[in-house]
Amino acid sequence: MSEIKDPALPGVPLSGAAASEITRRDFLNEITWGALGIAGAGSVAVTYQFFSPNVLFEPPTSFRAGNPDLYPVHSVTFLQDQQVYIVRMPEGFYAVSAVCTHLGCVTQWKPDAEMIACPCHGSKFKSDGTKVEGPAPRPLPHFAISLTSDGELLVDKLQEIKSEQVLKV
Ligand code: FES
Repeated sequence: MSEIKDPALPGVPLSGAAASEITRRDFLNEITWGALGIAGAGSVAVTYQFFSPNVLFEPPTSFRAGNPDLYPVHSVTFLQDQQVYIVRMPEGFYAVSAVCTHLGCVTQWKPDAEMIACPCHGSKFKSDGTKVEGPAPRPLPHFAISLTSDGELLVDKLQEIKSEQVLKV
């Protein structure tokens, strides 16, 4: 431990009550500055949070689904990350939502039965989204599908279209 010196008498160490009083003062000063520092940091954090925009960032609603040649005629391809079926029939392409219209479960394509089935309450749909059975109140919606300038499929999940609209390639 270092010696405490009297500022009025340089070179003379303090002892006893005078030394402990300065130590106590130093201690209180440090506590005070520490508390002020914490309060200041808290104020800065709260002010920063107040001025930051309260925005919810959502993933983009349109996505590229690749080259049309990836999809054979008479195929139903489930794109899990987008929860969309890309269906290619002789008449063209359509993009069907994989989210059940009953309570929002993600459906599954059953190739043996050639049906889209919901695992939650048993709704079944044809590959074009038409409801066959179960509690789902509506068919699966179709999303807008088009070709980009470089020839890839582009699906816009924000834009629902009529089921008769197909993309001819
Ligand atoms: S959520 Fe699909 S049938 Fe209920």
